[in-house]
Amino acid sequence: MSTEFPIGAFQHVATPFYYYDTALLRATLAEIKRATADDAAFHVHYAVKANVNPTLLRLIAEAGFGADCVSGGEVKAAMAAGFPADQIVFAGVGKSDWEIRLGIEAGIHSFNVESMPELAVINDLALRAGRRARVALRINPNVDAHTHANITTGLNENKFGLAMEDMEAAAKEAGSLPGIELVGLHFHIGSQIEDVETFVPLCERINDLQQRLEAAGISLPSLNVGGGLGIDYRNPDEHPVPDFAGYFEVFRRHLHLRPGQSLHFELGRSVVGQCGSLVSRVLYVKEGHQKKFLILDAGFTDLVRPALYQAHHEIENLTSRESRKETYDVVGPICESSDVFAHGLTLPAGHRGDLVALRSAGAYGEVMASSYNCRPLPKGYTTEDLCPDAE
Ligand code: LLP
Repeated sequence: MSTEFPIGAFQHVATPFYYYDTALLRATLAEIKRATADDAAFHVHYAVKANVNPTLLRLIAEAGFGADCVSGGEVKAAMAAGFPADQIVFAGVGKSDWEIRLGIEAGIHSFNVESMPELAVINDLALRAGRRARVALRINPNVDAHTHANITTGLNENKFGLAMEDMEAAAKEAGSLPGIELVGLHFHIGSQIEDVETFVPLCERINDLQQRLEAAGISLPSLNVGGGLGIDYRNPDEHPVPDFAGYFEVFRRHLHLRPGQSLHFELGRSVVGQCGSLVSRVLYVKEGHQKKFLILDAGFTDLVRPALYQAHHEIENLTSRESRKETYDVVGPICESSDVFAHGLTLPAGHRGDLVALRSAGAYGEVMASSYNCRPLPKGYTTEDLCPDAE
């Protein structure tokens, strides 16, 4: 099932805006549920950082998923959308005191703790609140995710997590603190991982670590392997739903869960990436001497991934009826030469006013928008907002 754009409804909406196809999101959620149906131990937490549109959050919460948050604001957004507090995990290298207090008072599932000073602060704040905080230690497994350098997190030189050699001492320390209940280990090696075999070394590393901890008398009720499953940015219509079955199978095969132990996943991009597009209008077709430019009313303030990570998003002219093709640099209006969505892209000949979709923009699109150049933030609309009678 690939995205169908309600182009008639688009005509009444100011561009640029994000469009979220809720039928595709529902199909994606159903596939995740199908692929984990036989594993009562598997728990998927949606990585809220990928997209906080309230309708999407509500649909994901209604489907029974937990949430993975990285700020107090995200914890609040998740709870407002209906995610039960005890299914919220809270990660991040720099949690402020108010954020920790919020998590403790809400009774979240666990904090993913990234340093020893953070563990001490959580212990202190939990004791002051008369509670015990559930904690998973984030371990940096030193596994190469083979993805873009800016979104690799599991290598030693990253700021994330505790080093493996410090893990036993950290686990003992956590076990000795009265305000802390150590519930597990947490890992995340990076994002947009296209080859699921990349997760095999992670599983093997975790198996070793578990054995070492058990030898030291420490057993843990849960493991959390983070997120990272990639999406097909080049072929959003052929692969609208990622291969969740293949992904979960890797963990089923390679990770040795103990009886009663739960396994947590924090998936963001793979859940919402393909259901979203940034919809923009062609402002001008500029005929340069060597190139033609399609100048859009969307820029990197609306979708920063191409400028920041050299990311590819398919671009589709939704309204041109031309059979003639032209080759364009597709650019935005921002006063910076990095404001380019595509170089040398062949599309049906474009005209002022054409509607253009930048595909696969449901994850890390709207949430990363900025108001640089005093530009208004783009709005997000779902199928339900634009076509209330559609379903
Ligand atoms: N868990 C942790 C600890 C994370 O740091 C992340 C993403 C996730 C889960 C979710 O990963 P996913 O399933 O979405 O790959 N802005 C970048 C991506 C940054 C990802 C940051 N961490 C982009 O636009 O590609």
